Amino acid sequence: MRVLVTGGMGFIGSETVIALLEAGFEPVIADNLSNSKEKVLDRIETLTGKRPPFYKVDCCDEGEFRKVFEKEHIDAVIHFAGLKAVGESVVKPLEYYKNNLDSTFTLLSLMREFGVKNIIFSSSATVYGVPTHMPLVETDPTGGATNPYGMTKVMIERILTDFQKANPEFNVILLRYFNPIGAHPSGLLGEDPNGIPNNLMPYISQVSVGKLKQLKIYGDDYPTPDGTGVRDYIHVLDLAEGHVASLRKFADKPGLEIYNLGTGKGTSVLELVHAFEEANGIKIPYIIGPRRAGDVAENYANCDKAKKELGWEARFSIVDACRDSYNFQKKNPNGI
Ligand code: NAD
Ligand code: UD1
Repeated sequence: MRVLVTGGMGFIGSETVIALLEAGFEPVIADNLSNSKEKVLDRIETLTGKRPPFYKVDCCDEGEFRKVFEKEHIDAVIHFAGLKAVGESVVKPLEYYKNNLDSTFTLLSLMREFGVKNIIFSSSATVYGVPTHMPLVETDPTGGATNPYGMTKVMIERILTDFQKANPEFNVILLRYFNPIGAHPSGLLGEDPNGIPNNLMPYISQVSVGKLKQLKIYGDDYPTPDGTGVRDYIHVLDLAEGHVASLRKFADKPGLEIYNLGTGKGTSVLELVHAFEEANGIKIPYIIGPRRAGDVAENYANCDKAKKELGWEARFSIVDACRDSYNFQKKNPNGI
Protein backbone atom coordinates (compact mmCIF):
# COMPACT_ATOMS: atom_id res chain seq x y z
CA MET A 1 0.00 0.00 0.00
CA ARG A 2 1.35 3.40 -1.06
CA VAL A 3 0.78 5.91 1.73
CA LEU A 4 1.09 9.68 1.35
CA VAL A 5 2.45 11.06 4.62
CA THR A 6 1.91 14.82 4.85
CA GLY A 7 4.20 16.34 7.46
CA GLY A 8 6.29 13.16 7.24
CA MET A 9 9.55 14.96 8.08
CA GLY A 10 8.29 16.06 11.50
CA PHE A 11 8.60 14.52 14.95
CA ILE A 12 5.74 11.99 14.75
CA GLY A 13 5.64 11.77 10.94
CA SER A 14 9.27 10.67 10.58
CA GLU A 15 8.88 7.90 13.17
CA THR A 16 5.72 6.79 11.41
CA VAL A 17 7.51 6.70 8.05
CA ILE A 18 10.05 4.32 9.63
CA ALA A 19 7.31 2.14 11.11
CA LEU A 20 5.59 2.04 7.71
CA LEU A 21 8.78 1.03 5.91
CA GLU A 22 9.43 -1.67 8.50
CA ALA A 23 5.87 -2.98 8.10
CA GLY A 24 6.18 -3.20 4.30
CA PHE A 25 4.16 -0.11 3.35
CA GLU A 26 5.45 2.38 0.77
CA PRO A 27 5.42 5.89 2.25
CA VAL A 28 5.61 9.02 0.09
CA ILE A 29 6.42 12.18 2.05
CA ALA A 30 5.01 15.66 1.38
CA ASP A 31 6.33 18.38 3.70
CA ASN A 32 7.12 22.07 3.29
CA LEU A 33 9.91 21.84 5.92
CA SER A 34 8.41 24.76 7.84
CA ASN A 35 9.12 22.89 11.09
CA SER A 36 11.56 20.17 10.03
CA LYS A 37 14.79 19.65 8.14
CA GLU A 38 15.72 17.80 4.97
CA LYS A 39 18.40 15.92 6.94
CA VAL A 40 15.58 13.85 8.45
CA LEU A 41 15.36 11.99 5.13
CA ASP A 42 19.03 10.95 5.36
CA ARG A 43 18.39 9.66 8.86
CA ILE A 44 15.35 7.68 7.76
CA GLU A 45 17.57 6.11 5.09
CA THR A 46 20.34 5.36 7.60
CA LEU A 47 17.85 3.63 9.88
CA THR A 48 15.89 1.66 7.30
CA GLY A 49 18.16 1.36 4.26
CA LYS A 50 15.34 2.91 2.22
CA ARG A 51 14.85 6.45 0.96
CA PRO A 52 11.16 7.12 0.42
CA PRO A 53 10.10 9.65 -2.23
CA PHE A 54 10.07 13.14 -0.70
CA TYR A 55 8.29 16.20 -2.12
CA LYS A 56 9.05 19.60 -0.65
CA VAL A 57 5.58 20.98 -1.11
CA ASP A 58 3.11 23.11 0.80
CA CYS A 59 -0.14 21.19 1.15
CA CYS A 60 -2.04 24.48 0.75
CA ASP A 61 -0.57 24.92 -2.77
CA GLU A 62 -3.04 22.97 -4.88
CA GLY A 63 -1.05 23.25 -8.12
CA GLU A 64 2.18 21.87 -6.66
CA PHE A 65 0.42 19.34 -4.43
CA ARG A 66 -1.54 17.97 -7.43
CA LYS A 67 1.77 16.96 -9.04
CA VAL A 68 2.37 14.53 -6.15
CA PHE A 69 -0.98 12.86 -6.79
CA GLU A 70 -0.28 12.78 -10.55
CA LYS A 71 3.11 11.18 -10.09
CA GLU A 72 2.46 8.73 -7.26
CA HIS A 73 -0.30 6.16 -7.09
CA ILE A 74 -1.60 6.88 -3.59
CA ASP A 75 -3.82 4.39 -1.73
CA ALA A 76 -4.10 6.12 1.65
CA VAL A 77 -3.07 9.34 3.37
CA ILE A 78 -1.81 10.09 6.87
CA HIS A 79 -2.27 13.81 7.43
CA PHE A 80 0.26 15.09 9.97
CA ALA A 81 1.02 18.42 8.27
CA GLY A 82 0.03 21.33 10.45
CA LEU A 83 1.24 24.00 12.82
CA LYS A 84 1.13 22.83 16.43
CA ALA A 85 2.44 25.37 18.95
CA VAL A 86 -0.37 26.31 21.32
CA GLY A 87 1.12 29.63 22.52
CA GLU A 88 2.04 30.75 19.00
CA SER A 89 -1.49 29.96 17.81
CA VAL A 90 -2.88 32.47 20.31
CA VAL A 91 -0.60 35.17 18.88
CA LYS A 92 -1.04 34.15 15.22
CA PRO A 93 -4.57 32.73 14.96
CA LEU A 94 -4.99 33.59 11.27
CA GLU A 95 -1.81 31.74 10.27
CA TYR A 96 -2.92 28.69 12.26
CA TYR A 97 -6.48 28.56 10.91
CA LYS A 98 -5.24 29.20 7.37
CA ASN A 99 -2.43 26.64 7.32
CA ASN A 100 -4.23 23.84 9.15
CA LEU A 101 -7.61 24.25 7.45
CA ASP A 102 -6.42 25.15 3.92
CA SER A 103 -4.02 22.20 3.81
CA THR A 104 -6.87 19.88 4.79
CA PHE A 105 -9.30 21.35 2.22
CA THR A 106 -6.69 21.05 -0.53
CA LEU A 107 -5.80 17.52 0.49
CA LEU A 108 -9.44 16.37 0.58
CA SER A 109 -10.29 17.84 -2.80
CA LEU A 110 -7.23 16.19 -4.36
CA MET A 111 -8.10 12.89 -2.70
CA ARG A 112 -11.59 13.11 -4.16
CA GLU A 113 -10.25 14.06 -7.60
CA PHE A 114 -7.76 11.17 -7.64
CA GLY A 115 -10.06 8.61 -6.00
CA VAL A 116 -7.97 8.18 -2.83
CA LYS A 117 -10.47 6.99 -0.23
CA ASN A 118 -8.59 6.41 3.02
CA ILE A 119 -7.34 9.09 5.42
CA ILE A 120 -5.91 9.09 8.94
CA PHE A 121 -5.90 12.46 10.67
CA SER A 122 -3.61 13.57 13.52
CA SER A 123 -6.02 14.91 16.09
CA SER A 124 -5.33 15.61 19.73
CA ALA A 125 -6.68 15.12 23.23
CA THR A 126 -7.03 18.91 23.18
CA VAL A 127 -10.42 18.45 21.44
CA TYR A 128 -11.87 17.27 24.79
CA GLY A 129 -11.36 20.78 26.20
CA VAL A 130 -11.72 20.96 29.98
CA PRO A 131 -12.79 17.42 30.86
CA THR A 132 -15.30 16.64 33.59
CA HIS A 133 -14.13 13.08 34.24
CA MET A 134 -11.23 10.70 33.67
CA PRO A 135 -10.25 8.65 31.76
CA LEU A 136 -11.43 10.17 28.50
CA VAL A 137 -13.36 7.99 26.07
CA GLU A 138 -13.93 8.68 22.39
CA THR A 139 -17.65 9.36 22.91
CA ASP A 140 -16.98 12.16 25.42
CA PRO A 141 -18.04 15.66 24.35
CA THR A 142 -15.55 17.65 22.27
CA GLY A 143 -15.38 21.20 21.01
CA GLY A 144 -14.18 23.08 24.06
CA ALA A 145 -10.60 23.66 22.90
CA THR A 146 -9.14 26.69 24.63
CA ASN A 147 -6.86 28.02 21.87
CA PRO A 148 -6.77 28.43 18.05
CA TYR A 149 -4.49 25.39 17.58
CA GLY A 150 -6.96 23.20 19.45
CA MET A 151 -9.88 24.71 17.54
CA THR A 152 -8.26 23.73 14.23
CA LYS A 153 -8.34 20.10 15.46
CA VAL A 154 -11.99 20.42 16.50
CA MET A 155 -12.88 22.00 13.15
CA ILE A 156 -10.96 19.47 11.04
CA GLU A 157 -12.54 16.57 12.94
CA ARG A 158 -15.92 18.08 12.09
CA ILE A 159 -15.01 18.74 8.45
CA LEU A 160 -13.80 15.16 8.01
CA THR A 161 -16.92 13.83 9.70
CA ASP A 162 -19.22 15.83 7.42
CA PHE A 163 -17.12 14.90 4.37
CA GLN A 164 -17.31 11.19 5.20
CA LYS A 165 -21.07 11.41 5.80
CA ALA A 166 -21.55 12.96 2.37
CA ASN A 167 -19.10 10.52 0.73
CA PRO A 168 -19.69 7.18 2.49
CA GLU A 169 -17.15 5.43 0.27
CA PHE A 170 -14.42 7.40 2.11
CA ASN A 171 -12.82 5.95 5.22
CA VAL A 172 -11.69 8.39 7.89
CA ILE A 173 -9.78 7.52 11.07
CA LEU A 174 -9.36 10.30 13.62
CA LEU A 175 -6.50 9.57 16.00
CA ARG A 176 -6.52 11.61 19.19
CA TYR A 177 -2.96 11.64 20.49
CA PHE A 178 -2.33 12.25 24.16
CA ASN A 179 1.18 13.53 25.10
CA PRO A 180 3.81 12.18 22.68
CA ILE A 181 7.34 11.96 24.13
CA GLY A 182 10.52 9.95 23.53
CA ALA A 183 12.68 9.60 20.46
CA HIS A 184 14.09 6.94 18.17
CA PRO A 185 16.33 4.72 20.36
CA SER A 186 19.23 5.30 17.93
CA GLY A 187 19.26 8.98 18.88
CA LEU A 188 19.00 9.92 15.19
CA LEU A 189 15.41 11.21 15.28
CA GLY A 190 13.45 13.05 17.94
CA GLU A 191 11.70 16.25 18.90
CA ASP A 192 13.54 19.35 17.81
CA PRO A 193 11.48 22.38 18.87
CA ASN A 194 12.39 25.92 17.83
CA GLY A 195 13.31 28.27 20.68
CA ILE A 196 12.48 27.60 24.31
CA PRO A 197 10.26 24.52 24.54
CA ASN A 198 6.71 24.88 25.82
CA ASN A 199 6.17 21.18 26.40
CA LEU A 200 7.44 19.35 29.44
CA MET A 201 9.67 16.62 27.99
CA PRO A 202 11.72 18.79 25.63
CA TYR A 203 12.14 21.26 28.50
CA ILE A 204 13.43 18.53 30.85
CA SER A 205 15.77 17.25 28.10
CA GLN A 206 17.27 20.68 27.58
CA VAL A 207 17.76 21.11 31.34
CA SER A 208 19.41 17.67 31.44
CA VAL A 209 22.22 18.79 29.11
CA GLY A 210 22.61 22.22 30.70
CA LYS A 211 21.01 24.14 27.83
CA LEU A 212 18.39 25.44 30.27
CA LYS A 213 19.10 26.07 33.92
CA GLN A 214 16.12 24.55 35.66
CA LEU A 215 12.60 23.33 35.09
CA LYS A 216 9.72 25.39 36.38
CA ILE A 217 6.87 23.14 37.46
CA TYR A 218 3.59 24.88 36.80
CA GLY A 219 1.76 24.43 40.07
CA ASP A 220 1.86 21.85 42.87
CA ASP A 221 -1.60 22.56 44.25
CA TYR A 222 -3.73 20.56 41.81
CA PRO A 223 -6.13 17.96 43.22
CA THR A 224 -3.75 15.15 42.16
CA PRO A 225 -1.76 12.73 44.38
CA ASP A 226 1.39 14.92 44.47
CA GLY A 227 -0.25 18.21 43.50
CA THR A 228 1.37 18.46 40.03
CA GLY A 229 -0.48 18.05 36.71
CA VAL A 230 -1.19 14.55 35.43
CA ARG A 231 -0.93 13.60 31.74
CA ASP A 232 -0.86 10.50 29.57
CA TYR A 233 2.67 10.39 28.08
CA ILE A 234 3.03 8.04 25.14
CA HIS A 235 6.29 7.02 23.45
CA VAL A 236 6.42 8.28 19.87
CA LEU A 237 7.34 4.78 18.67
CA ASP A 238 4.08 3.45 20.09
CA LEU A 239 2.23 6.29 18.43
CA ALA A 240 3.86 5.42 15.11
CA GLU A 241 2.68 1.80 15.46
CA GLY A 242 -0.84 3.10 16.10
CA HIS A 243 -0.80 4.48 12.55
CA VAL A 244 0.31 1.16 11.09
CA ALA A 245 -2.54 -0.58 12.95
CA SER A 246 -5.00 2.07 11.71
CA LEU A 247 -3.90 1.61 8.09
CA ARG A 248 -4.63 -2.12 8.40
CA LYS A 249 -8.11 -1.23 9.65
CA PHE A 250 -8.93 0.28 6.25
CA ALA A 251 -9.27 -3.28 4.91
CA ASP A 252 -12.57 -3.46 6.91
CA LYS A 253 -13.88 -0.28 5.20
CA PRO A 254 -14.55 1.32 8.58
CA GLY A 255 -16.34 4.51 7.43
CA LEU A 256 -15.54 6.92 10.26
CA GLU A 257 -13.76 5.79 13.42
CA ILE A 258 -12.13 7.67 16.29
CA TYR A 259 -9.40 6.28 18.54
CA ASN A 260 -7.58 7.65 21.57
CA LEU A 261 -3.87 6.87 21.37
CA GLY A 262 -2.38 7.02 24.84
CA THR A 263 -1.21 4.57 27.48
CA GLY A 264 -4.29 4.76 29.68
CA LYS A 265 -2.05 5.74 32.57
CA GLY A 266 -1.66 9.16 34.16
CA THR A 267 1.80 10.40 35.18
CA SER A 268 2.43 13.56 37.18
CA VAL A 269 5.06 16.18 36.36
CA LEU A 270 7.10 15.12 39.39
CA GLU A 271 6.82 11.46 38.45
CA LEU A 272 8.11 12.24 34.96
CA VAL A 273 11.01 14.26 36.40
CA HIS A 274 11.92 11.38 38.72
CA ALA A 275 11.59 8.81 35.92
CA PHE A 276 13.98 10.93 33.83
CA GLU A 277 16.46 11.09 36.71
CA GLU A 278 16.23 7.36 37.34
CA ALA A 279 16.49 6.37 33.67
CA ASN A 280 19.56 8.50 33.05
CA GLY A 281 21.30 8.69 36.42
CA ILE A 282 21.21 12.50 36.53
CA LYS A 283 19.51 15.23 38.55
CA ILE A 284 16.98 17.65 37.07
CA PRO A 285 16.94 20.91 39.04
CA TYR A 286 13.46 22.36 39.34
CA ILE A 287 11.45 25.02 41.09
CA ILE A 288 7.74 25.18 41.71
CA GLY A 289 6.01 28.10 40.00
CA PRO A 290 2.39 29.18 39.66
CA ARG A 291 -0.12 27.26 37.52
CA ARG A 292 0.02 27.88 33.75
CA ALA A 293 -3.15 29.46 32.35
CA GLY A 294 -5.28 26.99 30.43
CA ASP A 295 -3.83 23.85 32.09
CA VAL A 296 -6.10 21.17 33.50
CA ALA A 297 -5.30 19.04 36.56
CA GLU A 298 -5.51 15.69 34.80
CA ASN A 299 -5.77 14.37 31.29
CA TYR A 300 -5.48 10.69 30.40
CA ALA A 301 -7.06 8.29 27.99
CA ASN A 302 -9.13 5.20 28.02
CA CYS A 303 -7.56 3.24 25.13
CA ASP A 304 -9.79 0.15 25.21
CA LYS A 305 -11.28 0.89 21.80
CA ALA A 306 -7.90 0.99 20.03
CA LYS A 307 -6.91 -2.24 21.78
CA LYS A 308 -10.12 -4.02 20.85
CA GLU A 309 -10.54 -2.78 17.28
CA LEU A 310 -6.97 -2.11 16.14
CA GLY A 311 -5.19 -4.73 18.23
CA TRP A 312 -2.88 -1.92 19.32
CA GLU A 313 -1.63 -0.85 22.73
CA ALA A 314 1.35 1.10 23.99
CA ARG A 315 4.35 -1.08 24.86
CA PHE A 316 6.97 1.37 26.03
CA SER A 317 7.19 2.85 29.53
CA ILE A 318 7.89 6.45 30.47
CA VAL A 319 11.33 5.28 31.63
CA ASP A 320 12.01 4.04 28.06
CA ALA A 321 10.84 7.40 26.71
CA CYS A 322 13.02 9.33 29.20
CA ARG A 323 16.07 7.30 28.19
CA ASP A 324 15.41 7.84 24.48
CA SER A 325 14.72 11.58 24.84
CA TYR A 326 17.98 12.06 26.77
CA ASN A 327 19.94 10.02 24.25
CA PHE A 328 18.55 12.13 21.38
CA GLN A 329 19.23 15.38 23.23
CA LYS A 330 22.84 14.41 24.00
CA LYS A 331 23.53 13.34 20.42
CA ASN A 332 21.84 16.41 18.92
CA PRO A 333 22.54 19.30 21.30
CA ASN A 334 21.57 21.81 18.63
CA GLY A 335 18.76 19.82 17.06
CA ILE A 336 18.84 17.67 13.91
P1 NAD B 1 5.96 18.64 13.65
O1 NAD B 1 5.88 20.13 13.58
O2 NAD B 1 7.23 18.02 14.09
O3 NAD B 1 5.55 18.02 12.24
C1 NAD B 1 4.61 18.63 11.37
C2 NAD B 1 5.23 18.68 9.99
O4 NAD B 1 4.30 19.29 9.09
C3 NAD B 1 6.51 19.51 9.93
O5 NAD B 1 7.54 18.75 9.34
C4 NAD B 1 6.13 20.73 9.07
O6 NAD B 1 7.23 21.17 8.31
C5 NAD B 1 4.99 20.17 8.23
N1 NAD B 1 4.01 21.15 7.76
C6 NAD B 1 3.34 22.09 8.46
N2 NAD B 1 2.50 22.76 7.66
C7 NAD B 1 2.64 22.24 6.42
C8 NAD B 1 2.04 22.51 5.15
N3 NAD B 1 1.15 23.48 4.99
N4 NAD B 1 2.43 21.77 4.09
C9 NAD B 1 3.36 20.79 4.22
N5 NAD B 1 3.95 20.50 5.39
C10 NAD B 1 3.59 21.20 6.47
O7 NAD B 1 4.75 18.14 14.59
P2 NAD B 1 4.47 16.72 15.21
O8 NAD B 1 4.68 16.81 16.68
O9 NAD B 1 5.13 15.66 14.44
O10 NAD B 1 2.90 16.64 14.98
C11 NAD B 1 2.33 16.05 13.84
C12 NAD B 1 0.82 16.21 13.88
O11 NAD B 1 0.32 15.65 15.09
C13 NAD B 1 0.36 17.68 13.87
O12 NAD B 1 -0.82 17.77 13.11
C14 NAD B 1 0.08 17.96 15.33
O13 NAD B 1 -0.85 18.97 15.49
C15 NAD B 1 -0.47 16.62 15.78
N6 NAD B 1 -0.34 16.41 17.23
C16 NAD B 1 0.89 16.56 17.81
C17 NAD B 1 1.03 16.42 19.18
C18 NAD B 1 2.37 16.61 19.84
O14 NAD B 1 2.43 16.80 21.04
N7 NAD B 1 3.49 16.54 19.13
C19 NAD B 1 -0.09 16.13 19.98
C20 NAD B 1 -1.33 15.97 19.34
C21 NAD B 1 -1.45 16.12 17.96
C1 UD1 C 1 -0.02 20.85 25.54
C2 UD1 C 1 -1.15 21.64 24.94
C3 UD1 C 1 -2.01 20.71 24.10
C4 UD1 C 1 -1.16 20.00 23.06
C5 UD1 C 1 -0.03 19.26 23.76
C6 UD1 C 1 0.90 18.66 22.77
C7 UD1 C 1 -1.58 23.53 26.44
C8 UD1 C 1 -2.54 24.13 27.44
N1 UD1 C 1 -1.93 22.31 25.96
O1 UD1 C 1 -0.57 19.88 26.40
O2 UD1 C 1 -3.02 21.44 23.45
O3 UD1 C 1 -1.93 19.07 22.32
O4 UD1 C 1 0.72 20.19 24.55
O5 UD1 C 1 1.74 17.75 23.41
O6 UD1 C 1 -0.57 24.13 26.10
N2 UD1 C 1 4.71 21.65 32.59
C9 UD1 C 1 5.53 22.19 33.58
N3 UD1 C 1 6.60 22.93 33.20
C10 UD1 C 1 6.91 23.16 31.88
C11 UD1 C 1 6.08 22.60 30.88
C12 UD1 C 1 4.98 21.87 31.28
O7 UD1 C 1 5.28 21.98 34.77
O8 UD1 C 1 7.89 23.85 31.60
C13 UD1 C 1 3.55 20.81 33.00
C14 UD1 C 1 2.20 21.35 32.55
O9 UD1 C 1 1.67 22.22 33.51
C15 UD1 C 1 1.41 20.03 32.41
C16 UD1 C 1 2.46 19.00 31.98
O10 UD1 C 1 3.71 19.57 32.37
O11 UD1 C 1 0.90 19.64 33.66
C17 UD1 C 1 2.48 18.72 30.49
O12 UD1 C 1 2.58 19.96 29.78
P1 UD1 C 1 2.82 20.01 28.19
O13 UD1 C 1 3.95 19.12 27.83
O14 UD1 C 1 2.91 21.44 27.79
O15 UD1 C 1 1.52 19.32 27.60
P2 UD1 C 1 -0.03 19.67 27.82
O16 UD1 C 1 -0.20 20.92 28.60
O17 UD1 C 1 -0.69 18.44 28.35
